[in-house]
Amino acid sequence: MSAATPAALAPDLEAALRRLKLSAIRKLAPEVLVTAKVQRWPPDELLRTLLEAELGSRDASNARARLRTAGFPVRKTLDEFMVTDSSIPRATFDYLSSLEWIRAKENLVLVGPAGTGKSHSLIALGHAAVETGFRVRYFAAASLAEALYRGLADNSVGRLIENLLRADLVIVDDLGFAPLDDTGAQLLFRFVAAAYERRSLGVASHWPFESWGRFLPEHTTAVALLDRLLHHAVTVVTSGDSYRMKEARTRAGGPSPRA
Ligand SMILES: Nc1ncnc2c1ncn2[C@@H]1O[C@H](COP(=O)(O)OP(=O)(O)OP(=O)(O)O)[C@@H](O)[C@H]1O
Ligand SMILES: [Mg+2]
Repeated sequence: MSAATPAALAPDLEAALRRLKLSAIRKLAPEVLVTAKVQRWPPDELLRTLLEAELGSRDASNARARLRTAGFPVRKTLDEFMVTDSSIPRATFDYLSSLEWIRAKENLVLVGPAGTGKSHSLIALGHAAVETGFRVRYFAAASLAEALYRGLADNSVGRLIENLLRADLVIVDDLGFAPLDDTGAQLLFRFVAAAYERRSLGVASHWPFESWGRFLPEHTTAVALLDRLLHHAVTVVTSGDSYRMKEARTRAGGPSPRA
């Protein structure tokens, strides 16, 4: 490889690649051109190698941008989720992990007590969806309500909702943590109705469905919202002790939850 030291690209090539924003090719070309020459690659092999590098780099940077936009509060993965330690049936977990429900524009609704893996599974599924190429947005229900309220103030609720629904999956976590007033409930209803059969919603709440009237003050709104949310949905009722407590006990030297 004595005569094979990568030389800088000719200035016109460098400028053309810069102008076309082919930065991965620009970076790799000097080395790849040398290898191609030394190993006598057919021309299409050279072209393929450079294009694959550019596509790979774009896919990665798009995924990073989608991850930033998603706004997950923490990083959780499906691999870290111990299905056997949770009350989510394996078959349900596998179906959810296939992300088929997002393609089918179905919803996922998780209800159950604190620490039973609702947020973990929603965020991990959101993460997997981002990696697969879906657009995802994460909201705590209170932040979503706040954003919709702000939209009400400057008459942009419709636009805001359409903007949110550019995502394939919108996650609304901790629904019912704080009660909503009539306007908040109406706004949430408007959002769920707009998403109905168009996009997937992933919702988690402490409250069993029969108690949703506690944070949705108006009965008709609660019924109409649940009707749309649950029509095409995977519903999961989580149960058991808080995983946080189990982990705290393990750290304190108690019996391991996974033992
Ligand atoms: N089956 C599991 N496998 C691994 N980690 C888990 C599992 N279930 C929960 N955890 C972990 O326990 C913690 C609490 O879980 P999570 O936040 O998902 O609970 P939650 O149901 O959303 O609770 P809350 O209603 O209080 O928000 C997190 O750190 C999560 O990663
Ligand atoms: Mg949670």
